Amino acid sequence: MNDDAKNFKETFPGWDDYYKDNDVKSMPWYEEKLDHDLENELNTRSLNSGNFLDLGTGPGTQAIQLSNYGFDVTGTDISNSAIERAKKLSDKIDFLVDDILDSKFPDKKFDYIFDRGVFHVFEKDQRAQYLSQIKRILNENGILFLKCMSKEEKNLPDDGMPHKFSKQDIEDFFNSDFEIQKISTSIFKGTLDEFPKALFSVLKKK
Ligand SMILES: C[S@@+](CC[C@H](N)C(=O)[O-])C[C@H]1O[C@@H](n2cnc3c(N)ncnc32)[C@H](O)[C@@H]1O
Repeated sequence: MNDDAKNFKETFPGWDDYYKDNDVKSMPWYEEKLDHDLENELNTRSLNSGNFLDLGTGPGTQAIQLSNYGFDVTGTDISNSAIERAKKLSDKIDFLVDDILDSKFPDKKFDYIFDRGVFHVFEKDQRAQYLSQIKRILNENGILFLKCMSKEEKNLPDDGMPHKFSKQDIEDFFNSDFEIQKISTSIFKGTLDEFPKALFSVLKKK
């Protein structure tokens, strides 16, 4: 494990305190531009309208970029501090506190969901609840764009948070409820010297 990964694991105080006490620009996942995998996918599919949820928006950068693309964007996070800060970035985006494991959104609210680094923070016994909420708030034929840590990332522990996944893990977990349109190997661009290895998946609700 490298020092960045070790420090993060040992000193992590919980999401709200983390956002309260740190500059978002120093966070490992901070990426000002739209995630390159999502950008490619939106361009290939010519998508630029509809209701888009940036789940676990954190710094809010992905929500801002999606709004610039033309989507109606909602950015949610479990951290009130992250949301209070994000609200100051744009008045076009609905930034609000929502726990995806107990989401208050109505059924079929969103055409698209971007999960960049949220699914992989949940423990195994929380994942079924995540899946049922994502399915519930996604529209018919809605798409989940999922970016999570890859099992090929060797600088992170095998049993820590974030959890790491293989392509087979993603396929096995999502395939009863989602059509697996893509699972590709990628990286998490951000502030670390070496970008961690990631998987980028495109999952269409069945
Ligand atoms: C690795 S960060 C990624 C932030 C952002 N998606 C990005 O890429 O810049 C994970 C985010 O998930 C949020 N989060 C954790 N548990 C959550 C939950 N149960 N519901 C909603 N958000 C959650 C955290 O507060 C944090 O902002």
